Amino acid sequence: MKARRPKGTLDFVPPESDRLRAAEELFGQVCRLAGFEAVVFPTFEHTEVFVKSSGAGSDIVAKEMYSFSDRAGRELTLRPEGTPGVVRAVLENGVRLPCRLYYTGSFFRYSQPQKGRYREFHQLGVEALGEASSRTDAEVIRLGSEFFSRLGISDCRTVVNSIGCRDCRPAFRGLLVGFLKERREQLCTDCQLRLAHNPLRVFDCKNATCRNALAEAPVPRQHLCSGCASHFAGVLAELKRLELPFSLDDRLVRGLDYYNRTTFEYVSDSLGAQDSLGGGGRYDYLIEEFGGPATPAVGFALGLERALLALPEVDPTRRRALVFVVWLTEADISEAQSLLARLRREGIAARIDYDATRLKQQFRSADSARACCCVIVGGEELMRGACAIKDLASGEQTEVRLSDVVEQLRRRLALSGSAPAGVSR
Ligand code: HAM
Repeated sequence: MKARRPKGTLDFVPPESDRLRAAEELFGQVCRLAGFEAVVFPTFEHTEVFVKSSGAGSDIVAKEMYSFSDRAGRELTLRPEGTPGVVRAVLENGVRLPCRLYYTGSFFRYSQPQKGRYREFHQLGVEALGEASSRTDAEVIRLGSEFFSRLGISDCRTVVNSIGCRDCRPAFRGLLVGFLKERREQLCTDCQLRLAHNPLRVFDCKNATCRNALAEAPVPRQHLCSGCASHFAGVLAELKRLELPFSLDDRLVRGLDYYNRTTFEYVSDSLGAQDSLGGGGRYDYLIEEFGGPATPAVGFALGLERALLALPEVDPTRRRALVFVVWLTEADISEAQSLLARLRREGIAARIDYDATRLKQQFRSADSARACCCVIVGGEELMRGACAIKDLASGEQTEVRLSDVVEQLRRRLALSGSAPAGVSR
């Protein structure tokens, strides 16, 4: 049988897999500098964890969950997003609040696969639990944007909005429903349903007729209570102080039920229809709804596949920061192995090919591993206490004393720009 991967999934093989891991590592670094700590939580949860938080009327819960009963009849779901699992884990483990947490991993949504939308995808997320200040919203928004710029995505735009709170939303909702009812026949069937269950979500609809019908619709930002208005003004002032460019989008309501006040997204114009690189917002009621103490919170998640799509393609021939140790005869293998061990101890990635008995085969192995250079051990050079370094890109070969080889290789690796597991190409 010729096995193929399931629809909507991706394989990451070298060099793309290196780029994925390097991006996750970069995300961890950026997060740890801002005081976030890692959280690891299960890939599946009891289904109710998602229904209760993401919202029964959300597309995720209504159409996109991978749910199943296990052999003992438990109703379980592969995580479609991280926020509910993090909140559940924090409460279940009695993590002290406030806390700042970040995560990376696989998430699952059953939707029509297309460029930038997969059934299994990787998210990088942060959740700041227990911080109410509008300055935290801005700091969190900036964190995502800093990650994208350090990753090398130059066309990432930040879009922000406020959707109000428990106090001001009911009145706004009434106003919006009144407006939409007058235009019901212009709305698509999905939006007619949204009208009854979650009218704010109509702003999310991509349908052109719905968009036209909404042209004059009241928007949440114009109907905020004084608390929400001053919180949002604080977010915008802080974003300006941080010199983070942003634009306002009155229709940015986000597709999950738990948000209140600030919502935001990172968008790339190079991505086409699936243009959202990531998004998040405030969710001040979710922890309480999970049975915890009233705790304000804000966070975001980024789609790693989309981030990689927004970067230029990886050059498959780009050499790695890998040194290949090549031996001339069987008698030189033990010397070659000592050098191999020394390079690894010194933090230089190194390989050897024990199977290829001929020099030419060893060079071929080095080339197919995309090593940047070979160190040749044996012959007269070895008797002189030296070895040869061959640059695989230029073909140039130089003799180096064995005592200087680490220093020489370090210099070459730094110069060649073939960074270890680099995100950049
Ligand atoms: P979300 O907007 O549903 O938010 O997902 C965040 C990001 O994950 C999206 O902007 C997109 O880049 C990526 N993403 C979502 N679905 C897919 C897919 N099928 N294929 C590829 N990428 C995808 C959340 O998940 C919230 N939990 C974010 C959050 C954290 N809010 C507060 N804290």
